[in-house]
Amino acid sequence: MERIRIRGGRPLCGAVRVHGGKNAVLPILTATAAIRGRFILHNCPAIRDVEITQELLAAQGVTCVRTGDTLRVDSTGLRPGPIDHRLAGRLRSSVLFLGALLTAFGAAEIPLPGGCVLGARPLDLHRSGLESLGVETACESSGLIARGRPRSGTVILRYPSVGATENLLLAALGAAGSVRILGAAREPEIDDLCAFLTACGAELTGVGTACLTLTPRPQHGAEHRILPDRMEAATYLCAAACAGGALTLTGLIPAQLAPVTQALQAAGCTIEDGADSITIHGTARRAIPPVRTGPYPDFPTDAQAPLTAALLRAEGSTVLEETVFENRFRHLPALEKMGARIEGGGTLIRIRGVPSLHGAAVDATDLRGGAAMVCAALGADGETLISHAGLLDRGYQDLIPILRSLGADAEADEPKRTTP
Ligand code: EPZ
Repeated sequence: MERIRIRGGRPLCGAVRVHGGKNAVLPILTATAAIRGRFILHNCPAIRDVEITQELLAAQGVTCVRTGDTLRVDSTGLRPGPIDHRLAGRLRSSVLFLGALLTAFGAAEIPLPGGCVLGARPLDLHRSGLESLGVETACESSGLIARGRPRSGTVILRYPSVGATENLLLAALGAAGSVRILGAAREPEIDDLCAFLTACGAELTGVGTACLTLTPRPQHGAEHRILPDRMEAATYLCAAACAGGALTLTGLIPAQLAPVTQALQAAGCTIEDGADSITIHGTARRAIPPVRTGPYPDFPTDAQAPLTAALLRAEGSTVLEETVFENRFRHLPALEKMGARIEGGGTLIRIRGVPSLHGAAVDATDLRGGAAMVCAALGADGETLISHAGLLDRGYQDLIPILRSLGADAEADEPKRTTP
């Protein structure tokens, strides 16, 4: 979709089943380039980032066939192939092909992931981690290179980088012995990758902790169900907190949403946790104590923009600090164009609640910033037009049909193809 048109003021009512997690499926799908076998992956979201990863895998001889939300992946024909620079440049997680192809072929070269609007997003932790295992890495004009079989040993991550943890796990599959990662990321998506790698034959200990150890064993194909997308769930919760109504999300793990549901409860929403569901009633009406994003289990950076949108009409003021990415407030000008009052910038903002928001023409800045604009538009008076909405296709499956099924007055304009 290229443009979204939303007329606000309608509550969201009904139930939505959360899809499989974008940030869970991407490393797991990439891991199939490290292990020759046949895999069945259930609960795979049909989103653009998964499609791009499938295209990158195809160049390595790995085939993917989708039936509904199940992907059948065959990497028995795995062979070294070129990585499409244009495709890889559009996907930050393409960096995980470094660890996967190092395991598969003993050497790997990947294009540097494209510039990221969220910040510099360096790869120093990926490289230093590999180098501490004896892997030679180099950054050349053609891209990032890694050569040599990792030796057994310990990597210490000075920051619990999700991507670096994932890359090191994929490289450890081909190591000469056990690899221990101290300071590993603890996001649920890391646990899901570890569960998948265990199903493929690897031996993992310390899952769920900051001290992960992977011991390579003969690896093979596996069947796995992808973890639910906690960020998709957070986005819908914040949309409901903007629009009001009564929304039930199913197929998720409520405990993983605790920082988000606690914030929305503090803002005046009613939240009920079920075994695999969350129900939210009412809008966010009051400001909340300061929120600071951070690595799991702190408040997730990917929910920061949607929560900001939810608090725009909350009485009082809320301070929000972004500690994970240095440029993650790019959506604020669009929200201000809709009548929001937000002070500060850099990594610290103060949201001052306003009585109402109004529709406007805005441009999606990035995946979660665009989602914040959708949330704000649902609670605004009048019509909002969001351009560059194709960014949302990267991480949200069927966003507009789902919002419409919940009663939102929303539609997606496909880009008008100008005839040459
Ligand atoms: C993953 O990105 C997610 N992406 C991001 O979600 C998420 O925001 C992020 O983790 C944090 O939770 C996927 O899983 C595909 P990091 P990743 O490495 O792995 C710095 C979304 O919207 N850093 O934990 O790139 C980095 O600059 C996306 O779904 C280094 O300094 O995140 C950043 O400031 C956005 N050196 C911080 O660490 C490195 O070598 C967190 O990055 C690597 C990272």
